[in-house]
Amino acid sequence: MSGSATIEGLRKFRKKLLRERDPWHDTSRRFRIRRFAGPECFLDHLEGVRVAHLTDLHVGRVTPMEVQYDAVSMTNAGKPDLVVISGDFVCHSQVYLDDLTDVISKIDAPVFAVLGNHDHWAGAEPVRKALRRGGAEVLDNSHTTITIRNQPLQVLGLDDAYTGHADHRHALKGLRSDLPVIGLSHIAEEADALWEEGVPLVFSGHTHAGQVTVARLHELSVGRLAGHKYIHGLYGSRGAEDPKGAVYVGAGVGAAIVSLRVGERAKREVAFFELGTQPGAFDEHHQEQEAHPGRVPSTKTKERRAEAVRRKHERRERRNGNGKRPDLNH
Ligand SMILES: [Fe+2]
Repeated sequence: MSGSATIEGLRKFRKKLLRERDPWHDTSRRFRIRRFAGPECFLDHLEGVRVAHLTDLHVGRVTPMEVQYDAVSMTNAGKPDLVVISGDFVCHSQVYLDDLTDVISKIDAPVFAVLGNHDHWAGAEPVRKALRRGGAEVLDNSHTTITIRNQPLQVLGLDDAYTGHADHRHALKGLRSDLPVIGLSHIAEEADALWEEGVPLVFSGHTHAGQVTVARLHELSVGRLAGHKYIHGLYGSRGAEDPKGAVYVGAGVGAAIVSLRVGERAKREVAFFELGTQPGAFDEHHQEQEAHPGRVPSTKTKERRAEAVRRKHERRERRNGNGKRPDLNH
């Protein structure tokens, strides 16, 4: 080995050491892969269907692109039949949309997506287009049916509830009760109503598992302060008992502000769900957890969130030299 190659090797090693010692800038590529069975009610309809769940990619400046491609590699390595991604594809701008398209295009299975609050803040339609260019199907309060080895499975997607874009009635219209269905919603608390409507498994994100889970800090930040019932992992029930449904909140892949992730539950995550497999048939990371008390957002909070979307749109329009108030229905 030449002298310069040795120095370069030492430089890389030092950089790696520094990075791993500094949790505030966790640009490490450490992921957790978690595996769970689907609900019991799927046993009569599905056999050997594997869903990969990713969420909160936040493609942008904060999360290295290597992390995004690692997430894709781990997803592909699990050989899923379909991939569901529950929102927040970008951070605060449209600068990285081509990168987002490239990441999505590298997934080797059909991709279904719903938008999150960051996507609406950054501009919903350009994000949708970037996802579609990458080959994803974006479900905006709608559902579709995928057939996997002659087994039909409905996939329902709610648009983002945080910014006031979720429309359950529209999403559920025409849903068949004789076929199995999984749901997607950026905000996990929407699952409560979806269970009532016969959607027994919902995939969500938004919380990033709190990003700091040591000393149960995530329960304080995401649970007590932000008012979420579902913080990270599996909640509800996969059996026939009440509630008649489960929700999985993924820890996410990226971040929009700081990439800090401290604690086992806070690690970046790819989750696999085996539909048509009995819960308990293999070792799962954890069982269904008790929901936290949570807090339903007030009307004032909802109005403030919707106004934030309008303000961001207007600011962007002004920057682009177009002063018109945006039509948020488009
Ligand atoms: Fe997010």
